[in-house]
Amino acid sequence: MSALAAEFNAINLGQGSPDFEMNESLIDLVSKAMRDGHNQYTHRNGLLSLREAIAEKVDFFYNAQVDPKAEITITPGGTYAIYTALTSVLNAGDEVIVFEPAYDSYAPNIVINGAIPVFIPLVFPNYKIDWELVREKISSATKMIILNSPHNPTGRILDKNDIEELRNIVSETEILILSDEVYEHIIFDDHEHESILKYPDLFQKSFVTFSFGKVYHFTGWKTGYCIAPDWLMKEFLKVHQYNSFCANSPFQYALASFLQCRDEYLQLGNFFQAKRDYFNRLMHKTKFKPLPSKGSYFQLFSYKDISNESEIDFAKKLTKEAGVASIPVSAFYQNGKDDKVLRFCFAKKESTLQQAVEKLMRYQNKLDI
Ligand SMILES: Cc1ncc(COP(=O)(O)O)c(C=O)c1O
Repeated sequence: MSALAAEFNAINLGQGSPDFEMNESLIDLVSKAMRDGHNQYTHRNGLLSLREAIAEKVDFFYNAQVDPKAEITITPGGTYAIYTALTSVLNAGDEVIVFEPAYDSYAPNIVINGAIPVFIPLVFPNYKIDWELVREKISSATKMIILNSPHNPTGRILDKNDIEELRNIVSETEILILSDEVYEHIIFDDHEHESILKYPDLFQKSFVTFSFGKVYHFTGWKTGYCIAPDWLMKEFLKVHQYNSFCANSPFQYALASFLQCRDEYLQLGNFFQAKRDYFNRLMHKTKFKPLPSKGSYFQLFSYKDISNESEIDFAKKLTKEAGVASIPVSAFYQNGKDDKVLRFCFAKKESTLQQAVEKLMRYQNKLDI
């Protein structure tokens, strides 16, 4: 959709990346780190001061005590952390539960390890997890369950009931958890992020993955981290050691200082909630109907009052004819399940969102609906 958006000069609300500037002080901190000569490899697990800052943060935020020396590894992005976690534990024939719609890297990362993704649809339109179905799909080959909260593409978040259901399923089994929490701070309406880090029994079976790029508006830096108990992190490091060995040094020095300022992450929920609300207020004038978004920087809209076309056809048409790109949610399902829903990214300047909605209004008026 991004290529199509570029070809037709459309406003790109498809791709999940901000179009506003990141924090200037971080750029200064990276420049300073480079000038101070921090341009060589760091420790394989990452710069210790950054790992300590993360340990301090998760203690403050989730009351989780993790060992920065043994349980945190800095990675070149969240996707890398996901791939490394899967590769470090999966064997041929293992089954991994994946809830769909799903971030696109999970299935290929499972398959490349000879393992088998077992897809479970989230229940439309609230995208809740059908835990009864999960119980049915568990087999002796189930090695892992992948969770993602706040969720891309739906904006759904895990709640305490989900955690309880998960606990009932995995306790007394050897099933592992991969918890993709790259949107951890982007959560709205006073909801709490149910990080797996809050639950010591679940954490003992989990890889929890994060992305600095997603939360601090620099997706192009590709910097993230994984937190896992010592016994799983040892496996993770066996893959990481011979893959990238370590992540980018100057960014790590900069982030170690930046994380000292709690306001930087404490204000993120309100910051993105204001964008979601602004976008939804504008979209209210159209025939697109919002589905609940409780976190992430995505908002789904049903277009069934506008068209019967498939998601992919309608998304292409909107890009070419209205000048606004979105992502068909069917692209996040292996079988292309089509509920007439598109994903829009609201991590954009207000002027971008305003122009996009004006274009959608003009298009709707042209269609005379
Ligand atoms: C659910 C989810 N996980 C992981 C990532 C990747 O994070 P990174 O850019 O740090 O690799 C994304 C990016 O879109 C995502 O949406």
